[in-house]
Amino acid sequence: MTKNNPIGLFDSGIGGTSIWKEIHLLLPSEDTIYLADSYNAPYGLKSKEEIIALSFKNTEFLLNNNCKIIVVACNTATTNAIKELRAKYKVPFIGIEPAIKPAANLSKTETIGILATKGTLNSELFHEKLLNYPNIKFVEQIGHGLVQLIESGDINSTEMSVLLESYLKPMIVQNIDYLVLGCSHYPYLVPQIKKILPEHIKIIDSGEAVAKQTFNILNKFDFLNSNNQISNSIFYTNTNPTVLKSILGDNENVFYNDF
Ligand code: SIN
Repeated sequence: MTKNNPIGLFDSGIGGTSIWKEIHLLLPSEDTIYLADSYNAPYGLKSKEEIIALSFKNTEFLLNNNCKIIVVACNTATTNAIKELRAKYKVPFIGIEPAIKPAANLSKTETIGILATKGTLNSELFHEKLLNYPNIKFVEQIGHGLVQLIESGDINSTEMSVLLESYLKPMIVQNIDYLVLGCSHYPYLVPQIKKILPEHIKIIDSGEAVAKQTFNILNKFDFLNSNNQISNSIFYTNTNPTVLKSILGDNENVFYNDF
């Protein structure tokens, strides 16, 4: 493994590209390989055992493609499988967790909304994190159906607006002042969410923090790319590439691959 090898990322689908965008912004010289396991989306409805098995499969594909570090760009895979991944493989892993800490530190109403998948909200790791903030009231909401609509390209549909209203309005009534997006697909919903939330409620996702953490780990191991190069980013999906291509602005490096 050398410092000029690519960064590998995987997600249950296209949502983790919200994380890829932040990493690419912060580390523009790094090559990346992104795996969208859309065929198996959503992970949020699968058992812990299934999520671990899929995470192993994705990791092995990325390691076979010489990735020097793996970013688990999926909250559900992080909360259910990161311990098992770190135990099984030697490569460093960066996980993505809901940005509870910054929201808890900034909240004035001490009431925070968390929108995430069933798999994330039911995970042990997620519950361990909440215990650190005994003074905060967390209003948890499963985003039933949201990942499926995003995966099928229906981000701006009426069905999406109706679902979002039904999930967010009860949070507004409970006086949240921060909404944590606990799924890497959800940053694509921010324009619709902003239409529903009053302006004083702030939205937080984990993309920037994950990018900084990726930089810190690569720097710590002296694994930052040393070529001052124009980087190469490749995206693989195991379903029709149309939606992935379009959210990446008609990117030409999106390929079908039955990984
Ligand atoms: C899912 O596949 O259910 C969503 C992935 C995530 O939690 O980021």
